[in-house]
Amino acid sequence: MFSKETYTARREVLRQSVGSGVILILGNEEAGMNYRDNWYHFRQDSTFLYYIGLNQASLAAIIDIDENTTTVYGDELTVDDIVWTGPLPSIAALAAETGIRHTAAHNEVINALQAAQQKGRNIHFLPPYRDEHTVKLHHWLGLAIGEVADKASLPLIKAIVAQREIKTAEELVELDKAVDITSDMHLAAMKATKAGMMEYEVSGVVNSTALLNGAELSFPIILTTNGQTLHNHYHGNVIEEGRLLLCDSGAQTSNHYAGDMTRTFPVNGTFSQKQREVYTVLLQSHEDAVAAMKPGVPYKDVHLLAARTIFDGLKQIGLTKGDTEEAVSQGVHALFFPHGLGHQMGMDVHDMENLGEVQVGYDGAAKSTQFGLKSLRLGKPLKEGIVLTVEPGIYLIPELIDIWRSEGKFMDFLNYDKLEGYKDFGGMRVEEDFVITAGGSRRLGKKVATSIADIEAIRQEAIG
Ligand code: GLY
Ligand code: MN
Repeated sequence: MFSKETYTARREVLRQSVGSGVILILGNEEAGMNYRDNWYHFRQDSTFLYYIGLNQASLAAIIDIDENTTTVYGDELTVDDIVWTGPLPSIAALAAETGIRHTAAHNEVINALQAAQQKGRNIHFLPPYRDEHTVKLHHWLGLAIGEVADKASLPLIKAIVAQREIKTAEELVELDKAVDITSDMHLAAMKATKAGMMEYEVSGVVNSTALLNGAELSFPIILTTNGQTLHNHYHGNVIEEGRLLLCDSGAQTSNHYAGDMTRTFPVNGTFSQKQREVYTVLLQSHEDAVAAMKPGVPYKDVHLLAARTIFDGLKQIGLTKGDTEEAVSQGVHALFFPHGLGHQMGMDVHDMENLGEVQVGYDGAAKSTQFGLKSLRLGKPLKEGIVLTVEPGIYLIPELIDIWRSEGKFMDFLNYDKLEGYKDFGGMRVEEDFVITAGGSRRLGKKVATSIADIEAIRQEAIG
């Protein structure tokens, strides 16, 4: 938790930028996994954490812009709660820690909202991403279930995006900490992996490294010898000699800031010739992207630059052909690189994605619908203080190659015969986290090997 002055100042900025009305911020509830009392690990809503700072379930807050008050609504623990889950300070004492003087019982929130509605005041709320939010908004505001999402407040979304996307110095301390732990997780994976192990054994090492540092995971671990499946959460394969192992994972600090990195390394101590050639192209695309980032440059342009480097580099290997500009404008590179170059990162690993990608990543402008480019979550011009990931990838997805070939797609740009020999290649991605600075960018956290020489040195020592 930050100081009460931080939370008070954040609420004041929000109040000024939304201008008038009432802001309703919903906290999250505990969620039953397979029956009511067997909960998933609790995760508070990030907007609630950002402005209200409290990490307990079943709270809501109202910022009354015109009255200049903030009230936290929640119920004190029952005797049973204290017996089963332990004591807590009162809600008033918790709220005081983030500079909030008004608290009330949870059911009072309906009275406050109805009083505001009766006076014709604007009630600003965010789009729901959990059914419990939809149900609350339906009951509390008398909205039909199906219209709740459409009634979310655009002025509130825009104000929150503008504020949360620029990271302050104290947030960057947390983000560096999250990425430091994330770096340790990746180094541990590189050191632990030996041919013959199961993927879940290395995933266990990655997870325990986060836990041993007092952190948690910022998203479920992707750790796979089938890296061509982008979000592959299956960990049941034997890690075989000759394969690549892709690990995409991140830590979340106790203060709820995320890290997100990917490394891909050879199960053998050395990259094979094929792996080496493709990895060299991938690393070049990563480096080109990082060199291009600075305030004012649209991230979409950086994405397309990385795509051109990939298409060009694969031409040297013989997998692609033809004019690079033309190929990338038609989306040919998406056969190999079907996702976006990166996303913003903060309290959420995909920061504020619940507020809608178009508002968060595109300043409200329309997103491309082209295969590949449609998956770019961040396209807008960069600003000093934005934190983001740079994560180009090159994947050989046999099913996609077969479909495109059968459709005769982009025959002038792709060497399908040569691609046949890469169908068991897998996939690779390199991901690091950056903050945009006045002159360019700064990589967050401790460096973990990305070069072939550095990765091979770690791997050879690990294998012994
Ligand atoms: N690290 C997973 C993702 O960015 O989607
Ligand atoms: Mn990522």
